[in-house]
Amino acid sequence: MGLTSSLRFHRRNNKTFLRIFMILVLSCIPGRTNLCSNPSLNTLSSLDSLDLEGYITFHDVHNASKDFGNRYHLPPLAILHPKSVSDISTVMRHIVRSTSNLTVAARGHGHSLQGQALAHQGVVINMESLRSHDIKIYKGKQPYVDVSGGELWINILRETLKYGLSPKSWTDYLHLTVGGTLSNAGISGQAFKHGPQINNVYQLEIVTGKGEVVTCSEKRNSELFQSVLGGLGQFGIITRARISLGPAPLMVKWIRALYSDFSAFSRDQEHLISKENAFDYVEGFVIINRTDILNNWRSSFTPNDSTEANQFKSDGKTLYCLEVVKYFNSKEANSMNQETEKVLSELSYIPSTLFSSEVPYIEFLDRVHIAEIKLRAKGLWEVPHPWLNLLIPKSSISDFATKVFNSIVTSNHNGPILIYPVNQSKWNKHTSLITPNEDIFYLVAFLPSAIPKPSGANDLEYLLRQNQRVLSFCAEANLDVKQYLPLYETQKEWRSHFGNRWETFAKRKYKYDPLAILAPGQRVFQRVSSQASVPLVTASARQLRE
Ligand SMILES: Cc1cc2nc3c(=O)[nH]c(=O)nc-3n(C[C@H](O)[C@H](O)[C@H](O)COP(=O)(O)OP(=O)(O)OC[C@H]3O[C@@H](n4cnc5c(N)ncnc54)[C@H](O)[C@@H]3O)c2cc1C
Ligand SMILES: *[C@@H]1O[C@H](CO)[C@@H](O)[C@H](O)[C@H]1NC(C)=O
Ligand SMILES: *[C@@H]1O[C@H](CO)[C@@H](O)[C@H](O)[C@H]1NC(C)=O
Ligand SMILES: *[C@@H]1O[C@H](CO)[C@@H](O)[C@H](O)[C@H]1NC(C)=O
Ligand SMILES: *[C@@H]1O[C@H](CO)[C@@H](O)[C@H](O)[C@H]1NC(C)=O
Ligand SMILES: *[C@@H]1O[C@H](CO)[C@@H](O)[C@H](O)[C@H]1NC(C)=O
Repeated sequence: MGLTSSLRFHRRNNKTFLRIFMILVLSCIPGRTNLCSNPSLNTLSSLDSLDLEGYITFHDVHNASKDFGNRYHLPPLAILHPKSVSDISTVMRHIVRSTSNLTVAARGHGHSLQGQALAHQGVVINMESLRSHDIKIYKGKQPYVDVSGGELWINILRETLKYGLSPKSWTDYLHLTVGGTLSNAGISGQAFKHGPQINNVYQLEIVTGKGEVVTCSEKRNSELFQSVLGGLGQFGIITRARISLGPAPLMVKWIRALYSDFSAFSRDQEHLISKENAFDYVEGFVIINRTDILNNWRSSFTPNDSTEANQFKSDGKTLYCLEVVKYFNSKEANSMNQETEKVLSELSYIPSTLFSSEVPYIEFLDRVHIAEIKLRAKGLWEVPHPWLNLLIPKSSISDFATKVFNSIVTSNHNGPILIYPVNQSKWNKHTSLITPNEDIFYLVAFLPSAIPKPSGANDLEYLLRQNQRVLSFCAEANLDVKQYLPLYETQKEWRSHFGNRWETFAKRKYKYDPLAILAPGQRVFQRVSSQASVPLVTASARQLRE
């Protein structure tokens, strides 16, 4: 069954299911629980009688049935709107002790791509309800901020800026939650310098899959700390996080320059990330068969010479755009300009394709949101997003680029393709994040939107097939590529993703979430019945044999 047809299948079934469910729930109000023969529904209705500061709702589940990817539509049975950590712990303990098979998904901002934050017929925890805007900033030698796991990065930025401070490592888009990005990695143009967001956390408060509330850090309960970072939500729910801060600049100089030769482009990118003080942000993107080449939906860059910039067309050729940023404060503008001119003079972009712009720091960091507002106005935001994010070792990037950007992907008019290297030699190697086995690797992100056509059709199937061709090429050419924001359907694929770290991952899962209640949408482990004496790892092994 193709993905779209399976989608349609889900949609149709959901409606029927919802109707049946509403009837069951109505007969499951507390006091009449004897009417319920299904233990999951029993447990669910008894959730309603728990003493919570927040509340549980059984309707209005529509928003929690989908995500930014807009391809999966899987409604939960209930949504918890927690007001405290103990609400989350109470609900988790209740489910652990019950005979139900209910699963639980923490939902950050729901910006996953393939249903990772959904809990089909389970309980979704709306993490944004937890935040009480108690963003606490500690100045000092090593400043940090304490925030709720459901806090949006944009709010943290706004608050820390009041103190002249800022987190150091970002994602390209800030309307994502702390818990959501720390469950993956949080990678952007600052990662070459500061590591991903998971390397910039001092402490976490976690509710484990057993319902225990645990504070952890490098020193305290360090195994849980490392497991949760990049842990795909498998070990516990991040309820609070302590994030490292640094001084915030007021302005950024934002620079783009074009290349027609991939090896010159990647050589320059690698050169720039080897120099800690050249730039504060290094990214890049690929332009295939496009006319409006300096811009894409993700960011509105206004070049200093737009007439000149508009002259460029890619004319069927593939071009590469380097994107770098230098932070500065107005009084240092002169020396900053001299320094950047010097670094730029060492690069081999096409002469006359160097463009720049100066914008406030917050405007640069929040650039994708500006694009979001425009797209929303045109109804082009809530469309399917068949994105593919790959981490490709330096030794393979040239083979990858030659094949993929010249013969597999023949146009990127559906959305941007980002490409930039990072050096992971100083990254924490003990988190759950899986990366290629080389110091330097590239993040390559295909970020298309499947925009509906007037005919009712869209490019979704085509884009999914294209992703598959890219993945097949990587497998056949034996490139040691890892998916970022990974999603696999079988445990065999998950094992291969984790490689020799699979046993550790599974062992930790058994320790912190033995019934595999958490983050079912990642599809790594299968829920173990509370009654069953089969341990989780055996259950997985059984699944593997099937
Ligand atoms: C427009 C856009 C741009 C993006 N840009 C980048 C980028 O530049 N770099 C990058 O690294 N990523 C990027 N991403 C990916 C993004 O980081 C992930 O999709 C992230 O999971 C989204 O955060 P969220 O808060 O919406 O999480 P959700 O989608 O709500 O959740 C993601 C997963 O984490 C779990 N989870 C959520 N909250 C918690 C919690 N508090 N504790 C434990 N588990 C939890 C969920 O159960 C789910 O499994 C981008 C995504 C979008 C849509
Ligand atoms: C669902 O999302 C829409 C659009 O973002 C919002 O207007 C609405 O209030 C949400 N509904 C619930 C029940 O949260
Ligand atoms: C839970 O799952 C187990 C194994 O699949 C099954 O035997 C049991 O009936 C299920 N329990 C409920 C309450 O659905
Ligand atoms: C990566 O970083 C390490 C540690 O800083 C450094 O020794 C190494 O030279 C870097 N590699 C490259 C290719 O820049
Ligand atoms: C635009 O900015 C770049 C980089 O700072 C500079 O080299 C170039 O001369 C500028 N072009 C114009 C027309 O000002
Ligand atoms: C370039 O894009 C146009 C539409 O934007 C398409 O018709 C054409 O086939 C593409 N060219 C190649 C070589 O893919």
